[in-house]
Amino acid sequence: MEKLDGKSLDLTKENIKVLKKLFPEVVTEGKIDFEKLKLVLGEEIETSNEKYEFTWHGKAQSLKLAQTPSTGTLRPDKESSKNWDTTENLYIEGDNLEVLKLLQKAYFGKIKMIYIDPPYNTGKDFVYKDNFRDNIQNYKEITGQMAKINTETNGRYHTDWLNMMYPRLKLARNLLTDDGVIFISIDNNENSNLRKICDEIFGEMNYIEEIIWQKKFSPQNDAKYFSLNHESLLCYAKSKSSFSRNLLPMTEEQKSRYKNPDNDPRGPWTSGDISVGRITPKDIYPIKTPSGREVFPPSGNSWRYSKEKIQELIADNRIWFGESGDNVPRVKRFLSETNRGMVPISLWFHDEVGHTQSAAQDLKKLFNDKAYFNYPKPVNYIKKALILSTNSNDIILDFFSGSATTAHATMQLNAEDGGNRKFIMVQLPEPLDEKSEAYKDGYRTICDIGEERIRRAGDKIVEETGKTDLDIGFKVFKLDSSNIKAWDPETANLEQNLFDLKDNIKEGRTKEDLLYEILLKIGIPLTTPVEEVNIGGKTIYNVGSGAVLLCLEDKIDLNLVNEIIKLKPKDFDSRVIFKETGFLNDSVKTNAIQTLKKNGIMDVRSV
Ligand SMILES: C[S@@+](CC[C@H](N)C(=O)[O-])C[C@H]1O[C@@H](n2cnc3c(N)ncnc32)[C@H](O)[C@@H]1O
Repeated sequence: MEKLDGKSLDLTKENIKVLKKLFPEVVTEGKIDFEKLKLVLGEEIETSNEKYEFTWHGKAQSLKLAQTPSTGTLRPDKESSKNWDTTENLYIEGDNLEVLKLLQKAYFGKIKMIYIDPPYNTGKDFVYKDNFRDNIQNYKEITGQMAKINTETNGRYHTDWLNMMYPRLKLARNLLTDDGVIFISIDNNENSNLRKICDEIFGEMNYIEEIIWQKKFSPQNDAKYFSLNHESLLCYAKSKSSFSRNLLPMTEEQKSRYKNPDNDPRGPWTSGDISVGRITPKDIYPIKTPSGREVFPPSGNSWRYSKEKIQELIADNRIWFGESGDNVPRVKRFLSETNRGMVPISLWFHDEVGHTQSAAQDLKKLFNDKAYFNYPKPVNYIKKALILSTNSNDIILDFFSGSATTAHATMQLNAEDGGNRKFIMVQLPEPLDEKSEAYKDGYRTICDIGEERIRRAGDKIVEETGKTDLDIGFKVFKLDSSNIKAWDPETANLEQNLFDLKDNIKEGRTKEDLLYEILLKIGIPLTTPVEEVNIGGKTIYNVGSGAVLLCLEDKIDLNLVNEIIKLKPKDFDSRVIFKETGFLNDSVKTNAIQTLKKNGIMDVRSV
């Protein structure tokens, strides 16, 4: 029986696998022959020492950090969750670097859209410091104390920020679907650095746009140089050729620009220019207006339509010469025929998507007029990014989720367009200041605020829209060290712990903790339906309608094994997992494996 290993996806191994598949000739005795690889790539390799690159102190180390598998786990917390049994949304409390590593197997290539709003490195916000040696221990220490801020005086101001962002973005890219996109909010402090690392990680050719958001509406008259009223939203695709951007629905204001001065039975219309700025001799000809005047295209231009086509359009009353019948001709564009929607512009104004103050006000309203969280993003701002990049059933990830605006925007959009998008929020349980209003009201970490925001926002949306079939729940998981002693780096190689390994599960950890650790590490999404089957007081977990059958009980006998076999679906293979020490005795264990194999269950493993 094969033993499961406790690591999250080993990215170096995955990279080597890809290389081997592409260029089998560069593999010698299982290793990559670099010299051969160079030959395969021919002229396309950079050999000069003076190549164009962006680097900083610690870059190589932070790349290594991204590639070191996590030894942690995510423990379910049903009590903090909402609608545990039915929801497909997730809220994960933890440092996002470890969490992104843990999500690699189960969510590789599955996320359609990532929105993040990382610390901007203003000198007042908190920039998380990773620890290469033991990041889970580091995480526990950091979340147990007050957050440290990254001030310009520590001399490593940009470096610290880049070292924090680089490995996270690397891991995030792996999670995107081929047609997926990432949107990143940023201001001037790190905009240029962010752009450079994104060019490297996502590829310059996958840069989509920098959107300018008008975050403030009134000018700040005491500003030294300029009143800064905007910030940016950078957008990169995983692969630009696969990504297709949705159009925006027309607003009432846009619709109101359509009029019907000639009572056209096809309804309201606007008019468009029919000249184009190029010279095509056959399309330069006079058009006769109803008043009898002949009009040519302006100099350097041609008509958009051929002579024949223009006659057709005139006959169909689609060319407008103004009320007087003497104006330059224009083409009528009917509202009833405009079902394409609108192409988004790169400027997002506050009157459409909100500004920092309106976002803060809206969040306050949800919490009985109390300001628990500084600088949330407006719901409509994130909703707009969602409209442009996602469709029903897509998974959305925000791994700097703060007050969970992205979850709110996802539920709101689902309510508006009948979608079934699912969200994954990741947030560090950053301790709240004891003097803060939120702390006084019983909240202890930013996660407490984020979770409560989703609860309240979901209820409010259902109340306002009357849509009771919306998924407004979420499953809470918390980052922790592994449940399995042998998977824990602190104990893995210590002889004195070998006795403990007889019972390989850490004290205080539940069967469900173990269940979800196993699911994560074999690559099953955390919201896959789990049915508990009770046989004589023992539990079998039936995951994904028989895809995985787990029994984490002690004293397993052949009767129970036969019950497991009954759960195997006819049309696909099951994987069966037991606890290594769970069998009644060794002969039951051997018989169990044989019986399972005889019944077509070949994949049997232990933890
Ligand atoms: C600017 S806020 C995001 C605000 C959010 N967009 C909203 O609308 O509420 C950034 C958040 O990232 C969190 N954060 C910082 N480092 C983190 C890390 N390593 N893992 C997870 N969250 C982190 C901070 O606690 C903070 O709440």
